[in-house]
Formats: sequence, C-alpha cells, structure tokens
Amino acid sequence: MNHDERIAVQTSGNNLKNYEETYRSFDWSQVEKEFTWSQTGRVNAAYEAIDRHAESGKGDKIALMYSDPSRDEKYTFQEMKEKSNQFGNVLRKIGVHKGDRVFIFMPRTPELYFSFLGTIKIGAIVGPLFEAFMEAAVKDRLENSEAVALVTTPALLPRVPVNELPHLKHIILVGAEGKLDEGYYSFEEEMKQASTQLEIEWMDREDPMLIHYTSGSTGKPKGVLHVHNAMIQHYQTGKWVLDLQEDDIYWCTADPGWVTGTSYGIFAPWLNGVTNVIRGGRFSPDDWYQTIEKNKVTVWYSAPTAFRMLMGAGEEVVKKYDLSSVRHVLSVGEPLNPEVVRWGMKVYGKRIHDNWWMTETGGILISNYPQMEIKPGSMGKPFPGIYAAIIDDEGNELPPYQMGNLAVKTPWPSMMRQIWKNPEKYQEYFRIPGWYISGDSAYKDEDGYFWFQGRIDDVINTSGERVGPFEVESKLVEHPAVAEAGVIGKPDPVRGQIIKAFIALRSGYQPSEELKEEIRNFVKTGLAAHAAPREIEFKDKLPKTRSGKIMRRVLKAWELGLPTGDLSTMED
Ligand code: WTA
Repeated sequence: MNHDERIAVQTSGNNLKNYEETYRSFDWSQVEKEFTWSQTGRVNAAYEAIDRHAESGKGDKIALMYSDPSRDEKYTFQEMKEKSNQFGNVLRKIGVHKGDRVFIFMPRTPELYFSFLGTIKIGAIVGPLFEAFMEAAVKDRLENSEAVALVTTPALLPRVPVNELPHLKHIILVGAEGKLDEGYYSFEEEMKQASTQLEIEWMDREDPMLIHYTSGSTGKPKGVLHVHNAMIQHYQTGKWVLDLQEDDIYWCTADPGWVTGTSYGIFAPWLNGVTNVIRGGRFSPDDWYQTIEKNKVTVWYSAPTAFRMLMGAGEEVVKKYDLSSVRHVLSVGEPLNPEVVRWGMKVYGKRIHDNWWMTETGGILISNYPQMEIKPGSMGKPFPGIYAAIIDDEGNELPPYQMGNLAVKTPWPSMMRQIWKNPEKYQEYFRIPGWYISGDSAYKDEDGYFWFQGRIDDVINTSGERVGPFEVESKLVEHPAVAEAGVIGKPDPVRGQIIKAFIALRSGYQPSEELKEEIRNFVKTGLAAHAAPREIEFKDKLPKTRSGKIMRRVLKAWELGLPTGDLSTMED
C-alpha cells in the first residue's frame, strides 16, 4: 500500500466542518437533545424517523421513492406515517405485543418498509430476512428468534417450514389472492381496515428493536440485537459521514436483510428527514446508472463489489447517463481497492468514501469524511465519540504500522446489546476488558488512518456478504454424496472472495463435474444462492485435528500455495 498517496478534499457541502476539532470536543449527549426522550424520557425510533417530520411541517416532503419494472411510487412522510400506523394496528389486532419478534421475508418493495416501521412503532422487535434465503436459512432464523409473526409473499411462502415452527402463529401475505386459512392474513385487506391513527408504544432507549442474523466461523448464525438507542448513531453518522442535507436524494443499494440496508437504508436517511430512493431487483450497470439519473440521486452508498462490477462494465456505459446530480459517494462491506478509488476519480470525477463497521457495531465507526483527504486503500479515521485502536491479544495498544486486532472502546450508542439467546457468544467479543474485539485485523498509520488487513477468524466475505463456513459445511454434508466438507474463502478480483469447498465423498460416489453441479445446486436451493460454493474440489481425505475438526487453515494454505504452519494437532 502507498501510505502517501492522497486525494484532496473535494466534496462541497460538509456538515462536519473540522474533523480534528470535532473529534476532540464531541460527545454523544449533544445528539440526544434532538429526540423526545430529552423531554419525556421515552422514545420510539420509528416515530423519530417518520412522524417527527410529518408533525413538524415536512408532511408533504417525499420520504420514499420506489420503482421497479411494474411500479413507480412516491410516499410522503405523512403517508409513511399513516401506512406504518396502519401496519402497527394490524399487528396489534392479531395479538402481537411489545417485545414479540416479527420477521419480514420479502422483496424490497414499499410494503417491506411499512411493515418494518409499523413493527417498531408497537414496540415489537423486527427481523428482516434477505429474500434470497432458502428453507434451511429461514428456518434457523425463525426458530432461534421464536418469531410469532411473519410478513412474506405467496411466492416465498414455500420456503417457510410453517409446521416446524411452533412459535410462528401469524403469517401476513403481501399480494395474496383468494380465501386464506386460519392464521394467514392478507396484507392489503388488513391494511384497508386498519386505522391510520396509532397509539405509539413509547420505549425506553435500551429496549430491543431489531435483530440481524450474521455469521461467525463456528455454529449457526447469531442474532445480533440492537436497541432504540442506536438511532443516535444512525442520525449523527448520517449527518457527518453520509453528509445528508435537507434537499438530498439519497440511495443506499443494500437490502434491509443486511445491516447496511437498515442502519443506512432506513434509519440514517429518515432520521435526517431526507428523501430515500428504494430500488428492487438485481444489479445491472444500466439500471443502476438509470436509477441515479431518473431520481437525481445526490448521495450514493454502495459496496466495493458493485463498484468493481461497474468498473468492469467500463466507461462507455457511464457516458450514456447524466450522473451530474451526484455529490457524495460512499462504500462499505469489504476492502475498497485503491484502484477503484482512482477509477472513481477518473470516471465519475468523485471520491469514493470508504467506511468500516459491522452488523455488531450497528453503525459506522471508521470513515473517510468529505472534508478529509483520502488515502486510497484506507478505511479512514474513527467517528467522533468513537475510540478505535489496534491492540494485541492482551489489550495493549500497538504502535503505527503494527498489525493487530481492530478494537473499539466500549460502549457506543449503536453497539449490539445481545446475541439472541447466546450470552457466551456475546461475551467473546468483549473478552479483553473495556474493548470490543471486531475479529478484523488492521493497522494504523502515523496520521491515524486505519488500514484493513483481513479477518482473524474463518468468516468469508463474498461480494460484501458475510458467510459462515460452518453453515455451508453443515448444508454440504446433508447431501448424500458428501462425507466431509471444509469451506474457505478464496481471493477473487471482483467478489473479494469466493466460496470454495473441499469435499471428501462417501464410498460409492465418483467425482464428476455433474456431481459438483448437483452439490452446488443443493446449497443454492437449500440455503442461499450467495452461500453456494463457486468452486468445489474433491479430496480423498480432509485435514483434521485429532479431535475431528476440519482444519480450514490448512485448506487455505493448500489453496494459496502457502506454508501450512504447525501441523502438530493434525491427525495422521
Ligand atoms: C468487513 C457490513 C474492509 C469486515 C457493514 C467486517 C470491511 C465485516 C469494511 C462486517 C471496509 C466492512 N474495509 N472490510 N471498509 N467494512 N468490512 O457484518 O471484515 O456484513 O468485519 O457488516 O465486513 O460485515 P457485516
């Protein structure tokens, strides 16, 4: 990495005037004054995101702009308030209470957002699931959370094993036709009958609000729980990192099934009262540029894989569209290559601002700010109010350029408050007193910029999506031909990493290309498309410890042609 390459300050606007000075003087209590609890001691994040604007003269402002090939809709803050109120009433009527878990498993359409906000308004805990999940992934999450209600579509319903989920009592179907069985409700019918007035459930700021499942290197996905208080951070990072201003048209490309799609696809823009563009469907360079042109997007938040794919699509397609509305571009989720930053300068004439955070951190912790020089390849500097450092395994801070654990001093407003029903896993993140251990390794340069190095554990980051090797391995061994499986991330120029599976076959099965395809499809249709191994290699035997654990470290070394290191624990 070139630590001296810098891209000069360019973006105009700049809510955050002087980073260094603000970093020294800021504390979170300054932000709390914005919200109701400073007067009443009670709060509701959905009220603050929507109703607050509707009630303070911004009711007619467009909150949500949605389009897909068959729909083109706009909703004002007043309409968002009414729709989410109606949905809150629907839930109350069917008997959902404060603290109950309500999951949403559906494509990114306005109904998803009404449901999400309405659930929070009645004090229930919302759990958005990515629409590409297949049965096993859906089941694990609904089972672990003991969700009582699910919002989904008839097309996705076959992936919900309703009979195996005793807690799941109510299914609300968006776009259902005909008569429904008991326990099933038509979203449209129920909404029609529901009042647009709702008695908001006023919450304590530490009350639970949202669960996102995310992957670790061992065990099933973990339910990361966030509380209403997280909004403090969503609001302020929206101001200083996204640089949101009154007239902005903001587009975050992430799905609410992932944390970026909620913290920055829902809370940050709406807490700041900004117009939010929602676009469903798949990635395509033309569609994406068209979305920017058509909606006159000014602030655009996306991910390295997308930028790399746009780079791959070339300059010609950029020239077909008018992207002049764009003021500010941001990226998160995986390392942003310096090459991509340079390309962004050349082709968009814009700096791409990298920032770092995780599902567990709930909000942005390290970032490049508009009024700061960018060093391509660096994630930037800690957000005001956040103390990040590189520490060794004993908790000692390391000097510049020494690689170690990327850690953050606890707490901060949007920090997760629980791993659902798994306090041991939660404690693992805080094993060094006073610190949150991210699981990422990084170093700091002498100017205080942070540089990402990799994961310390085996978690795979493919196209910005976190995949736990254990979840994939567990699915693989359910296939009748698979005796053992070990899964690793293999470096890939576009996706960051791809999933590679090493498989030992059961006796009686012969390696073949057809079998690879069949196994790949088995994961695709059973778990999720993004979790399916792009590469499969058959082995007679997999490297294991004497206690029978697959040694992914050795598989990785084989794959990359690196030394395998200490093999003393490996079975003969
Ligand atoms: C990785 C996404 C390099 C990192 C918001 C982290 C990054 C994991 C960056 C969290 C970045 C995130 N540069 N790597 N700017 N941002 N990561 O939970 O390994 O889906 O631990 O949250 O993505 O992924 P998650």
